[in-house]
Amino acid sequence: MFTRLNLLCRFRLLPFLVLSFVMMRPTLSEELVATNSSGNWSLHGGDHGEQRFSPLSQINDKNIGDLGLAWYADVLSIDGLLATPIVVDSVIYLSSTFANVFAFDAKTGEEIWHFDPEVRLDTSIIGSWASRVNRGVALFEGKVFVGTGDCRLIAIDAKKGTKVWETLTCDPLQNYGVTGAPRVADNKIFIGNGSSDMGVRGYVTAYDTNTGKQLWRFWTVPGDPELGFENDTVAMAAKTWTGTDWWKNGGGAAWDSLTYDPEFNQLYIGTDSALPWDTNVRSPEGGDNLFLNSIVAVDADSGEYKWHYQTVPADAWDYNANNQMTLADLEIDGKQHKVLMQAPKNGFFYVIDRKDGKLISANNYVRVNWAKGIDIKTGRPIENPAARYYLNDDGRARVFPSIWGAHNWHPMSYSPLTGLVYIPAQDMPTTYRLEKDAMLGGVFIDLYGYKENDPDRPQNLSKLVAWDPVTQSERWSVEDSLPFNGGVLSTAGQLVFEGTATGHFKAFKADTGENLWSVKVGSAMRTGPVSYSIDDEQYILAAVGWGGASRFQAPQYGASQGARGPSRLFAFKLDAKANMPEFVTPADIQPLPPAQTASKETIERGAVLFEVMVCSLCHGQDARSVGGGSVPDLRYMRPETHKQWKEIVLGGSRKEMGMLSFSELMSEEDAEAIHAFVIEQANELYQSNNTK
Ligand code: HEC
Repeated sequence: MFTRLNLLCRFRLLPFLVLSFVMMRPTLSEELVATNSSGNWSLHGGDHGEQRFSPLSQINDKNIGDLGLAWYADVLSIDGLLATPIVVDSVIYLSSTFANVFAFDAKTGEEIWHFDPEVRLDTSIIGSWASRVNRGVALFEGKVFVGTGDCRLIAIDAKKGTKVWETLTCDPLQNYGVTGAPRVADNKIFIGNGSSDMGVRGYVTAYDTNTGKQLWRFWTVPGDPELGFENDTVAMAAKTWTGTDWWKNGGGAAWDSLTYDPEFNQLYIGTDSALPWDTNVRSPEGGDNLFLNSIVAVDADSGEYKWHYQTVPADAWDYNANNQMTLADLEIDGKQHKVLMQAPKNGFFYVIDRKDGKLISANNYVRVNWAKGIDIKTGRPIENPAARYYLNDDGRARVFPSIWGAHNWHPMSYSPLTGLVYIPAQDMPTTYRLEKDAMLGGVFIDLYGYKENDPDRPQNLSKLVAWDPVTQSERWSVEDSLPFNGGVLSTAGQLVFEGTATGHFKAFKADTGENLWSVKVGSAMRTGPVSYSIDDEQYILAAVGWGGASRFQAPQYGASQGARGPSRLFAFKLDAKANMPEFVTPADIQPLPPAQTASKETIERGAVLFEVMVCSLCHGQDARSVGGGSVPDLRYMRPETHKQWKEIVLGGSRKEMGMLSFSELMSEEDAEAIHAFVIEQANELYQSNNTK
């Protein structure tokens, strides 16, 4: 039991080619038109190239003032909405927490069906993170596909909302779980999985959409050499790792981005880093550690390796490359290039040739101090040696960008009309410090970047960056207060849409960044908006609801107080006049907490125990999660729940709901000390809510 909980501590923070073939297939731009101009948003990234660009232009920079609410719909989700909706033939398909899947009428917002795969916390305690996060579904020929936190890939009948087939794509007992959206092409469904920082070995699998039969599997890092390598690619990667038992680190999980390229019939895989982050421990005699932090191209039919580009060789900062990979045709220095673009966590924007994986150009799109640039000849970063904290005398380094990344999974968008990539970026540092007993493999990190009252701390920690990928320079940017703003949509109406961590949904002029429109939506946004049309009317759809790693690990930064409301879909169209819902935040509904009766010492002991007993892992650091949901914010406990404290914490009375019993790990006195700490936190919140 204790080792299981210990494992929980190691938890994510946050958590193609032949010419004749090409000619037989539609070109990417035709493909884009085929998928999007029909008025549908049929693929995760809008089109296969994941441009997240809508060719619809009825709503544009001239008439955006007439954009109004067509409808809104509440979505059952206890932890926000992270999924990109798929919209085909007037039906919206959306996933939420615990991989629940819904179909809504795209014209009215009425729920058509709801499929519950019955992911439950008590059957996958370790995977509880994965259980609460789902970034989307795929739709193909009448079936909706979803991956679950307990490792299943499920095909659902798109009309009826009933299960067609199900297959186990990973082992939840080995800490695997699926949070990312599957991608689909040519009767094949591609799916990755996550939890590199719980030691899993990453891979991507392709399945037949009709039968669920496995077609191929690509391993992103090598396994135990004694068992023999699966293929030459794995053997080649193994040469880049050193030490004994290095393979036990696993890593390289493909937890988010996969991009299918119809022009080269290639699948691109974006990979994670691995623990321990201290490279000296992970691979003590050096080595690049393939394929961590990489973009890997594999043949979509066979899963065979084609090429790779590693963004951060021998990573020490969790600068993974799981971010969106967007495909485009660009003219650079008078030559046409078929490129892949990525703005990964490390702060550099990469333009890569899709044919062979060669780096065309790279430049930093936010403040960066871990590297001075990228050497175009070798494709390798020109590192600042001081950033490798484990080599410094004091074992520490303050590094830009932060562990959260200059850009995380929140989708970016490329407009072929303006030629700009719109990146939801953030600008923060992280201090890394060697510390023997630190949770994440001996490295302590400050999740907030700045100390309280830090004079260095800028007012604004995020910005929407309009980046020219040809000149590798910023065209415009708009700053915002909190990091963790939502994903981006660009449209042929010369508009760029983005939701923010302050609970606003905004539109900007695509070429200048002028803010043309903004509405309050009651909760922070994370995922990208989409656009579709029905009966010649264009809609903009926003999936709203604060969730994900920031909610869990850095609640102060994840959403402002007024942006912690429920999960909802909001559909907007021209001249619509529906009323917005009333916005109630958890702060409005906090019951009066019990009076504090414990001593200062007891409260302090409770605070420490709250960490040690990993309550914070599920209920948030310092019990500062938010109200409602699968993992309640303990400061909002009702009076009767306070009375049941002992039965819940020691007696296991909520075991089947995922709240384990801690009776083997602590005494009654310990439990009471934690209770005193929680009461203290609840009173502090109550006071701050009621003195404003
Ligand atoms: C693995 C995740 C996890 C960990 C670790 C965890 N909890 Fe929970 N806890 C839950 C879940 C899930 C619920 C909701 C159960 C339900 O729906 O009734 C919950 C509910 C509770 C409740 C009831 C709250 C309410 O308002 O209904 C209390 C009290 C509680 N937990 C205390 C603790 C304490 C104290 C610790 C540490 C000793 C802890 N929990 C550790 C997952 C966790």
